[in-house]
Amino acid sequence: MSPQRASSQPTPERRISTSVLVIGTGGSGLRASIELAERGVDVLAVGKRPKTDAHTSLAAGGINAALGTMDEEDSWQQHAADTIRESYLLANPHTVEIVTKGARRGIEDLERYGMPFAREADGRISMRFFGAHKYRRTAFAGDYTGLEIQRTLVNRATQLEIPILDSVYITRILVKDNVVFGAYGFDLTDGSRVLIHADAVILAAGGHNRIWRRTSSRRDENTGDSFRLAVLAGGRIRDPELVQFHPSGIIEPENAAGTLISEAARGEGGHLYNALGERFMAKYDPERMELSTRDRVALAAYTEIKEGRGTEKGAVLLDISHLSRETIMTKLPRVYQTMLELQMLDVTTTPMEIAPTAHYSMGGVWVRSDDHSTDVDGLYAIGEASSGLHGANRLGGNSLIELLVFGRIVGEAAAEYSAGLLSQQRSPEAIDEARTEIAELLAADGEENVRALQRAIRNTMTEHAGVVRDEAGLLAGLAELDAIEARFDSLGIHPDVAGFHDLAHAFDLKSAAIAARATLQAALERRETRGAHNRSDYPELDPSLRVNLVWSLDRKITREDIPPVPDEIAQLMRDELSVAGKLLE
Ligand code: FUM
Repeated sequence: MSPQRASSQPTPERRISTSVLVIGTGGSGLRASIELAERGVDVLAVGKRPKTDAHTSLAAGGINAALGTMDEEDSWQQHAADTIRESYLLANPHTVEIVTKGARRGIEDLERYGMPFAREADGRISMRFFGAHKYRRTAFAGDYTGLEIQRTLVNRATQLEIPILDSVYITRILVKDNVVFGAYGFDLTDGSRVLIHADAVILAAGGHNRIWRRTSSRRDENTGDSFRLAVLAGGRIRDPELVQFHPSGIIEPENAAGTLISEAARGEGGHLYNALGERFMAKYDPERMELSTRDRVALAAYTEIKEGRGTEKGAVLLDISHLSRETIMTKLPRVYQTMLELQMLDVTTTPMEIAPTAHYSMGGVWVRSDDHSTDVDGLYAIGEASSGLHGANRLGGNSLIELLVFGRIVGEAAAEYSAGLLSQQRSPEAIDEARTEIAELLAADGEENVRALQRAIRNTMTEHAGVVRDEAGLLAGLAELDAIEARFDSLGIHPDVAGFHDLAHAFDLKSAAIAARATLQAALERRETRGAHNRSDYPELDPSLRVNLVWSLDRKITREDIPPVPDEIAQLMRDELSVAGKLLE
């Protein structure tokens, strides 16, 4: 029996009030918190893992801004054109304009906070090539860019004395009549409950790529928490089917399968080979080769493996051994360390075995493009939790700049919302519902194991909603999901002396189920091949599906029109949009 079941004492509940609550302590949550604190607004940030170790710290290769430090011809308009084109026209042009125009300011903010960017001998910020960018516009710090950004933001938040509770798991956003009034959760260490009253809530709790078996996320992150919290509060999800598979995840050891090998490895000149020794990108994109778009490189790697030209272990080879040792040690130190630590493999002499890995949720909570407000008054979403910037194929390096740009904008918007609030209603019923939900889960003593059910969802998503999909598989996936969810009635939750992680995993599981259903349904509805969404039964792009798909808790999907691309950006978009040569099998 768990300590919780054995105890007859009422569970302590801590009550906190703040003006703005930020859920998530990665880059977007911290940048929004900093904006609020710099404006003198009371802010509290909460997260479910140590703040120095939020998922942003795993982002590797770089952050985009058209600073023109290496290629003077670059401009924010060209950055916007590349982003929209490579999104297969599903990005919201207004969102893209805000991010690409605001990128310079985002970098300046980071410099002001002390970010150690790599620089040229004369002091200019260095820029590297990332796939499908017309110019070099990806700033970096080795291949530890996200880690340095996270450290820089944590330092700034510490200077500003921003309170951060990084062992609090939020289970519900509290809403009365479609207006937010706080959130409810529990402390992962001792299970005590936390009731937070707030004028506004910013949801920065990441995406859902951990619901695939091979993923660049760690065990308990990106489990779809934002999806669940938002839809239970009254929000909706846009384009959940658009999930980016990064071409280069390692394939072993099993418990680290999917760990990212940064695109920087190809950006610095790495080559991809199949087991026959062919540089296979020549077949798929002879012009851009390894620096083609992520969807194309991932699909090419997948195709080579599936058609039997992969290695015995089911991988293709990424080789950087022809690069100088100095380049590897200064520009790709994490690649070097990761391979040594996880496989005792020396990348200066030996190619790496890699395969596609679920990497990024390009869709997310439905937000307005100008301030990332949601369907619920006072609720905002940012970062990987949100949607609008990436469409069907995200350019590497765009997610980190999005955190900086929209972190600032959403911080400002939430500050203004809070200042303008004349009164706020609360709902004792909503709070009771949140309390009861936790109590019922803690009382659950059935035979079903949470971890096993999480794995079942990951197997289903991997089998039926991976790099290539079709109707039969997606329908089978939904049937499997129904069967898995039916087993939720027999869950057993067992917190122990080490903490309440089993309870957290149960909520992660509920989130994963919602995220999986939204993804499968939307993938079924998108009867075309576009960007990362490859339908073998619909291998062509369908112009009538140049729309966003919006999923709500009633399991309905609506189509949303996308605004036109402004002329000054449209003129800079190269080539016709095409999926020719994508599904070669
Ligand atoms: O490959 C990478 O370094 C990933 C970067 C990104 O996803 O933006």
